[in-house]
Amino acid sequence: MTPNHGSLLYEGKAKRVFLAEHEQKVFIEFKNSATAFNAVKKAEFEDKGRLNCQISACLFELLETKGIPTHYLGVAGDSWMAARKVEVIPLEVVLRNIAAGSLCKETPIIKGTELSPALLDIYYKDDQLGDPLLTELRLERLGLLTAQQRSEIETIAKNVNNFLKSFFNQIDLILVDFKLEFGIINSGEIVLADEISPDTCRLWDKRISDPKARILDKDRFRQDLDNLLEAYGEVLKRVQGACAKPRNCL
Ligand code: TMP
Ligand code: ASP
Repeated sequence: MTPNHGSLLYEGKAKRVFLAEHEQKVFIEFKNSATAFNAVKKAEFEDKGRLNCQISACLFELLETKGIPTHYLGVAGDSWMAARKVEVIPLEVVLRNIAAGSLCKETPIIKGTELSPALLDIYYKDDQLGDPLLTELRLERLGLLTAQQRSEIETIAKNVNNFLKSFFNQIDLILVDFKLEFGIINSGEIVLADEISPDTCRLWDKRISDPKARILDKDRFRQDLDNLLEAYGEVLKRVQGACAKPRNCL
């Protein structure tokens, strides 16, 4: 099912954003494409778009009940979400509860080390520059955010981490790390945007101890492991089992 959308506003690696019936609303289509290592590695996974869209919808609704402002309005088809139109802030805010991924490639911290309090890393979102990690001073120098906006984003990100870590724990998933993006809506308010899915989180199955078999996220693709769709499907099944059905806004 496809909503009655307007023209294409933006196409990224995993989503397309279309205008909707009024100018402060958009329809977001979750694509089946998967990319890794700044799109050096690419593949298509039939049904990935639906899985990520439905997982994201449940998680945005959960966060909304906790008072987190988000761009989410509702689902608008299997792989479609309706959202508020935002001006995307070109930053990727990563929260790390357990050391993995780039942290272990770039520092001597050993994979699996618990990070408490969670480590918050901010990257500049620019494919051509390879999404570089920013220092405090570089972020300040870029002038993308006021000090207040920066502190707001960090507070939201830490709250999201606290809620999601405990939610995933209840459904036997370990939230290793994840990436958030933020946008500014018409009123000037900062809201959580983009998606929260196994494409943007590392999730390990608490019921499995084997370090490869427990991976239920895009690391299956990054590391050439099979059964990516089964892993995402398992995440959706557990998330749906613990959440209300997401509202349909068509
Ligand atoms: P990293 O270990 O590669 O820095 O990734 C940290 C988290 O951020 C991980 O959950 C995957 C997610 N992520 C994205 O969503 N998009 C990206 O482009 C990258 C590099 C990571
Ligand atoms: N999303 C990024 C890319 O395509 C990187 C990643 O998730 O590993 O290239």
